[in-house]
Amino acid sequence: ERLDGRTFSRQRLLVVANRLPVSAIRRGEDSWSLEISAGGLVSALLGVKEFEARWIGWAGVNVPDEIGQKALTKALAEKRCIPVFLDEDIVHQYYNGYCNNILWPLFHYLGLPQEDRLATTRSFQSQFAAYIKANQMFADVVNKHYKDGDVVWCHDYHLMFLPKCLKEYNSDMKVGWFLHTPFPSSEIHRTLPSRSDLLRAVLAADLVGFHTYDYARHFVSACTRILGFEGTPEGVEDQGRLTRVAAFPIGIDSERFIRALEIHPVQVHIKELQETFAGRKVMLGVDRLDMIKGIPQKLLAFEKFLEENSDWRGKVVLLQIAVPTRTDVPEYQRLTSQVHEIVGRINGRFGTLTAVPIHHLDRSLDFPALCALYAVTDVALVTSLRDGMNLVSYEFVACQDLKKGVLILSEFAGAAQSLGAGAILVNPWNITEVANAIARALNMSPEEREKRHWHNFTHVTTHTAQEWAETFVSELNDTVVEAQLRIKQ
Ligand code: G6P
Repeated sequence: ERLDGRTFSRQRLLVVANRLPVSAIRRGEDSWSLEISAGGLVSALLGVKEFEARWIGWAGVNVPDEIGQKALTKALAEKRCIPVFLDEDIVHQYYNGYCNNILWPLFHYLGLPQEDRLATTRSFQSQFAAYIKANQMFADVVNKHYKDGDVVWCHDYHLMFLPKCLKEYNSDMKVGWFLHTPFPSSEIHRTLPSRSDLLRAVLAADLVGFHTYDYARHFVSACTRILGFEGTPEGVEDQGRLTRVAAFPIGIDSERFIRALEIHPVQVHIKELQETFAGRKVMLGVDRLDMIKGIPQKLLAFEKFLEENSDWRGKVVLLQIAVPTRTDVPEYQRLTSQVHEIVGRINGRFGTLTAVPIHHLDRSLDFPALCALYAVTDVALVTSLRDGMNLVSYEFVACQDLKKGVLILSEFAGAAQSLGAGAILVNPWNITEVANAIARALNMSPEEREKRHWHNFTHVTTHTAQEWAETFVSELNDTVVEAQLRIKQ
C-alpha cells in the first residue's frame, strides 16, 4: 500500500541463473521429483522473499523428449521456476567446458587449462561458441516471459553474455548482473582469449555487482586496461554510456538456521551427534568437492597438526562433508581420488581399532542434519584457495549461538572481509600456519571464543540475503532512472 492510499503490485523479479534452486530427477516418462540444488548462489537466493520472483534456469538434466519437457515445466511452475532446456552437447561444451573448465578455474586464480594454453584453439573456440549459444537460449526464455516493468537479474559466470543478448531484444529492459565468484586481477583476466567479448557483453547491463570492493576494482581495471574504457567512481564509461559497478556483499537467511535449531528433528540429530562424539572435539568442513575449496591442503594441515600434537590424537575428529559436483569434468574426478587417498593415509596413520581421525562423506546432507552438524562443531575449517564469498562460514556462525565455536577462515574467501575480526584468518597454502591455527582454536579460552563469535554473529544476522537482494534491486531501479534523466538533459 502506498502513502496516497493506492495499492501497487510488487515488482516482478526475473532471476536468471544457470542452475535453478531445484534440480530435477526423472521418476517416469512424465513424472519428476525435485531436490534443492547445492551451492552458495542457491543458498542465498532461497533467502530472498520480498519480491514476486520467478527463476529461469537449467534443471540439471537432459530432457530430449517433449512429454518429459512438458511434465517438468509443469512441476517446476509450482516452484515458480521456468526451465531452460540444454541438450547434452551444449551441456558438455558450455557447462562442463567453457564454464567449469575455463572460466571457473581462471576466476579463482588457477589459470587456464594446459591444453587450451597450448592452442588447441579449436576446442576453445567451439566451447566459446557453445557458451554464446547457451546464453542466447537463456535470453530467449527470459524474453518470452518478460513483461514491461520487470527487473531482470542475471547471475554468475555462466551468463556473462546474457546482458548483451537481452538488451539486443529490448534496450529498455532493466538488466542487472551479479558475479558470485571472485573477479580476478586484470592480469589474470587478460590471459583469456575471449577477454574483450566477455567484458563488453557484461557492460551491456545497467548494474554490475560483485561480493567485494576488490572484485569490483579488478573488473573496472580489466575494462580500462583491456578495452580502453574509462573507470569512474560510479563504474565504467564508454562514449557517454555508464555501466554502474558496485560491491554488494551477499548474506544468508540467518533466521532460517536459527529457527531450525529449535525444531525436533534437528534436536534429535544434535543429541545423536553429541553421543557419537562424546569426549572428542568436533572439527567440521563442508564444501563442494571442488579444487577451489582447498580440501587436500586442509587435510594435510590436519595431518600436520596430529603429527605435532600427539596429546590431541584420539581427542579430536574432523568431519569432512564433500558434496560431489561437476563430476563429468576430469579435473574434479582427479580431485576426488586425491582426496580419498589423503584421507585413507591419515586414517591409516592415526586411526585406532575403535576410532578414526577423519570421517569423510562424499555426499550432501539434508537441512536438519546440516544444521545439527554446525551446532555441535567446536572448530569449522573453511580453507578455500579462493572463494567468491563462502556462505558455509555464515551458516556455521548462525548455528553457533550456544556453543560459540571457532571459525578458521581462508583470507582468500570473500567472507574474510566481513568475518575477519571474529575468525582466525589463515593462508590455506601455508600448511604449518593452518596446523597452528587448529591448535590455537582448540585451546582458545571461552572468553575469547565468545568475543569472536559475537562479532561474527552480529554480522551474519544483520547482513542477510534479503537485504542483499533488496539493495541490489533498488540500486538497479535507481540506476535506470538516473540514466534516463541523463539522456533527457
Ligand atoms: C557456485 C557457483 C554457482 C553454482 C554452484 C554449484 O556457488 O557460483 O553458480 O550454481 O557453485 O555449482 P554447479 O555447477 O553444481 O551449479
